[in-house]
Amino acid sequence: MAEHGAASTHGFQGKIIAVVNQKGGVGKTTTAINLAACLALRHLPMLLVDCDPQANTTGGLGFSRDGSRRSIYDVLTGTIGAQEAVVVTEVPGLSLLPGSKNLIGSNVELVAQDRREYRLQDALSELRSRYAFVVLDCPPALDLLTLNALVAADTLLVPMQAEYFALEGIAELMETLDRVSQAFNPRLALEGVLLTMWDERMNLSQQVARDLGEFFGAKLLRTRIPRNIRLAEAPSHGVPVALYDPRSRGAEAYGELAEEILLRNGMSPRAKRKS
Ligand SMILES: Nc1ncnc2c1ncn2[C@@H]1O[C@H](COP(=O)(O)OP(=O)(O)O)[C@@H](O)[C@H]1O
Ligand SMILES: [Mg+2]
Repeated sequence: MAEHGAASTHGFQGKIIAVVNQKGGVGKTTTAINLAACLALRHLPMLLVDCDPQANTTGGLGFSRDGSRRSIYDVLTGTIGAQEAVVVTEVPGLSLLPGSKNLIGSNVELVAQDRREYRLQDALSELRSRYAFVVLDCPPALDLLTLNALVAADTLLVPMQAEYFALEGIAELMETLDRVSQAFNPRLALEGVLLTMWDERMNLSQQVARDLGEFFGAKLLRTRIPRNIRLAEAPSHGVPVALYDPRSRGAEAYGELAEEILLRNGMSPRAKRKS
């Protein structure tokens, strides 16, 4: 990863973090939006890429999800370059490569194309050095879109709820990580596992957190995201929680996550912008 920094024309590392879990409703989109926003508010140029046909990241930042706007779909099918689809958001320093409902067809359409697993990696190769981090929000499936994200990524950030069956899904995801890195992307690594919708009062949560700590060691992130209604409300206002309610527990938790990620990447936490 160091070589991206050294070779980049804009001087940024352009580290690509895919937010992935094949389960739906575990907090991928909430994490992708709010982590990217919190890093942008700490003066880092950020790109968020919405790889999910449900396009909740796009909608949650106040953009339409219909097929009429330029989106990652047009980029993956090779109609336009990635730069042509990027839009700026209300958060200073945060850009978005929008998703769209058109992506539903991509799994089928991409199969016939050459370098079908590398389309996203190819599309981001020019762009990434303009950003400190590129965050990919993945669909809730291990499909060709997610495979493109895993092949493009440097690391995976895995949000999960502390519930019993979550552990089974994680084992499957880790096998996929191994297979993908062997076949397509040897440098792929785990950024961390993030507990979301955390409720410390539940005994089961504590037990699952202990098990995860044993399994993942230091890769289990210290930050836990609590269940907080503000996180669920913010998308309907088209902004991340840091703009919707900066004093909420949800906003504070994603701020802590941003700082933990910076520390783990050898970058010192930066002062937040006044917003
Ligand atoms: N920490 C949280 N507290 C409360 N609600 C949350 C939290 N994280 C996510 N949600 C809500 O739970 C639902 C699923 O979250 P989402 O981020 O869309 O998951 P995924 O992208 O994995 O499907 C959404 O309605 C979201 O607003
Ligand atoms: Mg989602």
